[in-house]
Amino acid sequence: MMRLAYLTPFLLLACCLQSASAQVTSQDFDKIMLYTLKNSNGLTIKVTNYGAIITSILVPDRDGEMGDIALGYDSVEDYTNAVDKPYFGAVVGRYGNRIAEGKFTIDGEDYTLAVNNGPNHLHGGVIGFDKVVWDAKPVGDNSLELTYVAKDMEEGYPGNLKCKVTYTLTDDNELKIHYEATTDKTTPVNLTQHTYFNLKGEGNGTILDHELMLNAKKFTPVDEGLIPTGQLVDVAGTPFDFTTAKPIGRDIEEADEQLNFGGGYDHNWVLDKGGKDGEMTLAARVSEPSSGRVLEVFTTEPGVQFYCGNFLDGRLTGKAGKPYVYRGGLCLETQHFPDSPNQPNFPSTLLEPGEKYDTTTVFRFSTE
Ligand code: GLA
Repeated sequence: MMRLAYLTPFLLLACCLQSASAQVTSQDFDKIMLYTLKNSNGLTIKVTNYGAIITSILVPDRDGEMGDIALGYDSVEDYTNAVDKPYFGAVVGRYGNRIAEGKFTIDGEDYTLAVNNGPNHLHGGVIGFDKVVWDAKPVGDNSLELTYVAKDMEEGYPGNLKCKVTYTLTDDNELKIHYEATTDKTTPVNLTQHTYFNLKGEGNGTILDHELMLNAKKFTPVDEGLIPTGQLVDVAGTPFDFTTAKPIGRDIEEADEQLNFGGGYDHNWVLDKGGKDGEMTLAARVSEPSSGRVLEVFTTEPGVQFYCGNFLDGRLTGKAGKPYVYRGGLCLETQHFPDSPNQPNFPSTLLEPGEKYDTTTVFRFSTE
């Protein structure tokens, strides 16, 4: 039987975070809790309603040895104080990834968002969905429902956006993430999950030896600010070709303008949907030879940002007290393409009043 094993207070933060838009008060911080999802095989996932963050994912290796494969912290203060705020485990939004210069136009109306990544907007702004307190409700014995209402003009986005993210841990060792949203004004929405995985266990070195397959024959090249040029380019013959599994480190040091811009892999791949737009398909498979752990990612989304922890530098120390080194974790952020609000040729990310945003991503854990 899967069950929500227990609820424990996560940590109360005395101070008060504020911005012009998202108001996060000390009362909100009083509501921060840590929830545990556990299935019949002993897989255990911890989630806090601060940022809808997955703080820990305990899965067995091929010998049944449990290991925590998610980078993160034990206390909420470590999240709020982290240098460079790397979005460990969080749900990012209202728009995951970048929007050029934080600007877009809807129906002739210009909008300006917070700019928080060089000249661009990243992951929803200064206080994105990763830095607010969500309402949490355990549902049944294996799901946690998190809701957040982003206000009209919060971080500059139009429309009151009601969001719901449901995490479900199944007995098939799948973590299912269901994202839903509705709005009262047309707005861009792109929600994703920003867990950093290290299948050897968090803090156990780099992920360069992990073998990755991406189910994508094309990617969206970027400029030096990591804004897509608008083209969809074949990965064949480039370091971006992961159509057949290869170690992440194999081609990462090649002289390549795109790798240079990303400081490594930090790009959006265009998933081969085989005409199944919006249907759940395999996006990625990661395996780690020494532990035998395998992660498969399935999604209804058209793209995945593969980011290999190029901004980690050993300054952050994780749950086991070990430093999170350069390229010590990898993210597979299922999503619509970056900067879609300014890219007419990309699938639209606009949500209209009366419509429902509804996407699902599954992380499946196994061994080989
Ligand atoms: C995303 C971005 C990266 C980086 C990380 C967070 O994956 O694409 O460039 O900003 O988030 O550090």
